[in-house]
Amino acid sequence: MLAVYAQSQSRTDPLSGLVVGERPEPEPREGWSLVTLKAATLNHHDLWSLMGVGLPADRLPMVLGCDGAGVDEQGREVILHSVIASPGWQGDETLDPKRSLFSEVYDGTFAEKVLVPSANLVPKPAGMSFETAAALPTAWLTAYRMLFVAADVTPGSLVLVQGAGGGVATALIQLGAAAGLRIWVTSRDEGKRAQALKLGAEAVFESGARLPEKCDAVMETVGAATWSHSVNVLRPGGAIVISGATSGDAPQKAELTKIFFRQLRVIGSTMGNLHELQRLTQLVVSRGIEPVIDTVMPLSGAREGFARLHSGQAFGKVVFTA
Ligand SMILES: NC(=O)c1ccc[n+]([C@@H]2O[C@H](COP(=O)([O-])OP(=O)(O)OC[C@H]3O[C@@H](n4cnc5c(N)ncnc54)[C@H](OP(=O)(O)O)[C@@H]3O)[C@@H](O)[C@H]2O)c1
Repeated sequence: MLAVYAQSQSRTDPLSGLVVGERPEPEPREGWSLVTLKAATLNHHDLWSLMGVGLPADRLPMVLGCDGAGVDEQGREVILHSVIASPGWQGDETLDPKRSLFSEVYDGTFAEKVLVPSANLVPKPAGMSFETAAALPTAWLTAYRMLFVAADVTPGSLVLVQGAGGGVATALIQLGAAAGLRIWVTSRDEGKRAQALKLGAEAVFESGARLPEKCDAVMETVGAATWSHSVNVLRPGGAIVISGATSGDAPQKAELTKIFFRQLRVIGSTMGNLHELQRLTQLVVSRGIEPVIDTVMPLSGAREGFARLHSGQAFGKVVFTA
């Protein structure tokens, strides 16, 4: 079958280890279902895997991809929940110390056939496109938990999103606006700031700009480049919810004094659980939200999509169709 996989890893040239080619079809496994892929979307996670972050080299070759939607063996249209708990785990699967995402231990979703734990299949609503469905399980689920589970904000709260163009950032803007939050956004790029306004942001700013009001919460996925700004823009008692560090995880200053003196909360957040994915899916349907899609291309053209994400040009999700 056609698949997109990591053959080798390089910190400086991640695309050098990327292969679009043939892989064997998955072998059946008790308790797992075989899904014929219809659409999958690219995440920064796939670039990290090619860079050797979170994927040990001894697991290569590994089919990449965390997100997907397709049709199972019974002909049901399904969304694939990416967080795979270890056998016997009870409770929130994101808290299972042995949990993995697709493409970390088990092959990922960038393939014509994907083997998925049967418990991880979420019915795709009939009116939802496969492209939209495939955008939900990683970036959108992460944004959902950051805003509605971790941040402790309510409609009318002022929330700053660091970065405009990323998959998580665009999801935060669209979900936050739909839920009645006041969403402010920073970006390095003027064009992306304009696009963020169209998505429902109340105001946009250059990265690092002084803000006219203190924020209730900051949604942080950029990391080192924006950390001090995130601390500085919060009101006393405000919260930084962090789920990523694209620009690095060692900021010049940890800002410890400001964090304790102003009683800030720093909350780590990773993915979401199956119930949150189900609720996100319902929210997207009931509010008629269309996740921003940057580009759609066939799986066979995946290299172009990776190059686009790596260049930082993408605004929203890059989708692969099968
Ligand atoms: N913990 C989890 O469960 C989880 C889930 C999903 C993603 N993540 C992580 O979250 C991060 C974002 O993921 P993504 O898929 O949305 O990635 P992405 O598409 O690469 O997004 C990168 C974002 O970071 C901003 N950015 C990058 N470098 C910057 C810099 N030097 N200064 C200011 N802004 C910068 C970009 O903003 P502009 O271009 O608009 O300036 C863009 O919004 C990644 O590190 C990813 O691994 C974690």
